[in-house]
Amino acid sequence: SAELIKRLEDTIENIPDFPIPGIQFKDISPIFLDPKLYEDVITDLAAKSKGKVDAVCGIESRGYLFGIAIAVALEVPFILIRKAGKLPPPVISEKYDLEYGSAIIETREGQIKPGQRVLIHDDLLATGGTTEAAAKLVEKQGATVSQFSFLIGLKGLNGDEKLKKFGAEVYHILEY
Ligand code: PRP
Ligand code: MG
Repeated sequence: SAELIKRLEDTIENIPDFPIPGIQFKDISPIFLDPKLYEDVITDLAAKSKGKVDAVCGIESRGYLFGIAIAVALEVPFILIRKAGKLPPPVISEKYDLEYGSAIIETREGQIKPGQRVLIHDDLLATGGTTEAAAKLVEKQGATVSQFSFLIGLKGLNGDEKLKKFGAEVYHILEY
């Protein structure tokens, strides 16, 4: 809602030139100082997915901050997507390209079930590279990505273009 967007805009801090010159960093940590605002964010995100997903995947690490609470609100399992080397074997992995070099994300084998409709949640959609890799990881396990949700979508980076091929709904509460 417009009211929730306004409260978030008033709360999220913009830090210019962090972590590198030219980047406008959106600091979401003040949201956690305001339990009522946090609760309203979870209610909004969970309402979008109510009855439409069988599991929620959250992307390390900021994707956990809201992801677990969304899954609890929906009464569905939560699966951690972690950066490589953190989860014990057996794991399923997906490699993806970064601006410089590459990265790997993983889930524990067997936690995502074939045929499940999965919500992939993260705090922020920027280039979409991380989320795209997460979606491939989900599909590799015979499940379907039915929705993507974010707190924030960054305009102008075409992140949602990368997600189109999965045919899933893309939702973010606010845009910068
Ligand atoms: C940030 C953000 C998203 C990702 C978005 O995470 O939380 O996960 O980048 O970028 P993209 O759309 O260009 O892939 P980061 O890798 O900084 O790690 P963190 O969540 O652990 O802070
Ligand atoms: Mg992240």
